[in-house]
Amino acid sequence: MGHDSVIIIGTGMAALVTALKLCNEKNVKLFSKNGIGDGNSWRAQGGIAVAIDHTDYPSNHYEDTLKAGGYHHNLEATMLMVEKGPALLRNWMEMGMEFDRDHRGHLSLGMEGAHNSRRILHAGGDQTGMRCMNFLQRLLPKNVEVIKEQVIDLQVTDGVCDGVVTKKADGNTNTYFAEAIVIATGGCGGIFQHTSNDPNLIGSGLTMAYRAGATLSDLEFLQFHPTVIHKNGKVIGLASEALRGEGARLVDEAGNITMENLHPYGDLAPRDVVARAIHENERLQKKNYLDITRIPKFKERFPHISKMCEEAGIDLKKGRIPVTTGAHFHMGGVVTDIYGRTSIERLYAVGEVARTGVHGTNRLASNSLLETVVFGTQVAEDILRRSSEVACKTKETHQTMKLGKEPDLPAKEDIRQYVSNALGVTRTSATLQGFLTWLENTGLQQWKDASWLNWKIETIERATMITTAWLIARSAMERTESRGAHFRVDFPQRQKKWRNAQLIHEGESLRAKRTKGWKTNDQQMVTS
Ligand code: SIN
Repeated sequence: MGHDSVIIIGTGMAALVTALKLCNEKNVKLFSKNGIGDGNSWRAQGGIAVAIDHTDYPSNHYEDTLKAGGYHHNLEATMLMVEKGPALLRNWMEMGMEFDRDHRGHLSLGMEGAHNSRRILHAGGDQTGMRCMNFLQRLLPKNVEVIKEQVIDLQVTDGVCDGVVTKKADGNTNTYFAEAIVIATGGCGGIFQHTSNDPNLIGSGLTMAYRAGATLSDLEFLQFHPTVIHKNGKVIGLASEALRGEGARLVDEAGNITMENLHPYGDLAPRDVVARAIHENERLQKKNYLDITRIPKFKERFPHISKMCEEAGIDLKKGRIPVTTGAHFHMGGVVTDIYGRTSIERLYAVGEVARTGVHGTNRLASNSLLETVVFGTQVAEDILRRSSEVACKTKETHQTMKLGKEPDLPAKEDIRQYVSNALGVTRTSATLQGFLTWLENTGLQQWKDASWLNWKIETIERATMITTAWLIARSAMERTESRGAHFRVDFPQRQKKWRNAQLIHEGESLRAKRTKGWKTNDQQMVTS
C-alpha cells in the first residue's frame, strides 16, 4: 500500500459508503477483526430519515433535528446533511436499492419520534440496515480488500497520520501505510450491560484517536433507546421506534400509558425524554411494555422483530413486548469538520465515531444512517480532492511480538456493570466520582498512554473499554447541567439557556441567507 491507497478502519455503512466513492481511483483496505457481517449497521431497523416526499422539506427536517438535539449542533453540518440526503438516496434507488413502497408503488415513509412528518425510508419492514448493507456490499469491486486484523493504534509521524498498527490473532503486529486513514469504527454501546449495539463495539476508534492526540468532544452525550426488548434480564434486540410511529404505546404492567401528559408528542417524544420515563418507571419498580395491539398486520410490517420475539418465547398474541432502556448511540466522538477531517492531518472520522455536530445532545431518530451516507461521501470527496498533495510511505512492516508485561484489568462483565451504574440514563456527581476512582484504580494513568503492542487482544479490549468509559465519565462530570441525553440528577435544570437562544438565532440567520432556496427539497429547487 502507499500512494493511491486509503485505509478505512471498520466495515459498517459509513465505511462502505466511503469505500464505494473512492474505489474507482484508490485502492481501499477495510480493516475489521471479524470482516463484513457484524456491527451496528446490519442491526438498524427503523430506517433513513430524509426529506424526500414532495410535501416535506429539508428545512423541516433541520428543525426537527435541532429541536430533538437541544440546539447543540454544528449548524452548517446539519444543514448539509438534510440538504444532500435526498439526492444521495435517490441515487441509491437508481442504482438498485429497494426501499419499501405501498400498493401504488409510492415510497412508504415511516414515522418516528420527534419528527413532524413521515420521512423514514425503510426496507424489508424493519430490516433496513441489513438490506442497505447487502446493497452496498454487492457494489464493492475487487480492489476493495477486507483485512481481518484488529487495528489497535494509529501511526502518527510529525503530526500526520500515515498508517495503522494491527494485531493479529497470533499476537503479531503489522503496520500499514496509506495516504489517508478513515476511522469508521462505530460507537461504544458494548461497554454497557444493556445495549442495542453489537457488544463488540466498545469505542475502539475513540480510544485510538485519543491515544493519537485527536480532539474529541461531547462524549457525555450518549443516547439510550427506550425500547430494547428483554427477557429474564437478557437483551433480545431492539423494538424500533417505528412501532410507536405505527401506533404502539408504552404502558406499565397495570396498563397505564407511560407517556401520557409527559410530553406533547406523547409516545413519539424525543428519545431522551422517553428513555427517562422508562427509567423512572423502573426506579418505581414498574415493568415497561410496548402495547402493539393497535398495529394491524404486525408480523408483516415488522418481520424481524416478530421473529426475535418468537425465538425468545415472547408471545406476540398477548400484544405486549417487555422493554427497557439500552445504550444506543454516541452523539459525541472524534471532532470533524464537514469533510470528516479530524484535528490530525490525513486522519478522517465518519459515522457514529465522529462528532460532526449533526446530532446535538440527542440524535433524531433515523438520522444516523443518513449521516453515514452524507459524510461518507464528503470524506471520500475530500480525499480525492487532496490526494495530489500527499506523498506517503509504501512499505508495510511486520513484527513478531512476544507477549509482554500487561496490567491485570477487570473482566469485561465487571466493567459493563460499573459503567451501567455510573453512566446510565441518569447520573450523579457521587456515582461519577466513585466510578472515576474505580477506573483510576486500574492503574489507568500508567497504562493508558503506554504501548499496547505486546499485550493480549483480550487485555487491549478491556483497556479500550476502560479508556472509553473514563473519557465519557470525565466529560459527564464536567458538564454540570442536564441537557439532552446527559441527565445529571444533581443539576436538573438547564443552566445555559442563553446558548440555546444563541444557536437558534445563528440558525435563523443562516437560514435567512438562503431565502426561498432553503425551504425547497431538491425536486423543486428554487434558487434565491
Ligand atoms: C429504531 O428503529 O428505533 C432505531 C432507529 C435509530 O436509532 O434512529
